[in-house]
Amino acid sequence: MTADQPEIIAVTSPDEMAALGAALGKFVKSGDALCLVGPLGAGKTTFTRGLADGLEVSDAVTSPTFVIARRHRGPTVDLLHCDAYRIGSADEFVDLDLDTDGAVTVVEWGQSVMAEISDSWLEVVIQRSSENDEGARQLTFSGHGDRWTGDEITSVNRALRQAVS
Ligand SMILES: Nc1ncnc2c1ncn2[C@@H]1O[C@H](COP(=O)(O)OP(=O)(O)OP(=O)(O)O)[C@@H](O)[C@H]1O
Ligand SMILES: [Mg+2]
Repeated sequence: MTADQPEIIAVTSPDEMAALGAALGKFVKSGDALCLVGPLGAGKTTFTRGLADGLEVSDAVTSPTFVIARRHRGPTVDLLHCDAYRIGSADEFVDLDLDTDGAVTVVEWGQSVMAEISDSWLEVVIQRSSENDEGARQLTFSGHGDRWTGDEITSVNRALRQAVS
């Protein structure tokens, strides 16, 4: 594998997807932003549910597709869970005037809005990896901005690989 090819993490079930989210939840800090990319039903909300567990958020995490954003209180940091699926433009997202302070912000379908809320974000791409296996998914993690350097991404990959091994 060359340095410019992202490392792939494979999961086989929703439980494993949630375990990856939980492992990342132990890694992220207040002010961090995550962009979840993947087709309908890829597992973005399932991943976020795991992340909430990792952050020890006790609320039930459900899809915020219609409310766009929902804040869940956590013991040390909140989870701000957003879904940009119904957002027409980055300006519309800015108009929500979301308060990202003291939270880890997760944006499903966030690819065109992340720059409006943060200088740095971690992009998580989820792909269905097999037509014959309903539960198979592949994830890749890449960083944008200073927070997510190559070393940091290497550490994320190592921690997440361990979570599903
Ligand atoms: N490996 C897997 N990871 C995550 N979900 C899986 C997996 N295998 C099967 N599933 C199923 O796929 C569905 C994923 O739903 P989820 O709401 O997490 O997707 P989503 O990417 O958030 O969708 P949307 O684009 O509608 O927001 C669930 O029904 C889940 O049980
Ligand atoms: Mg979703």
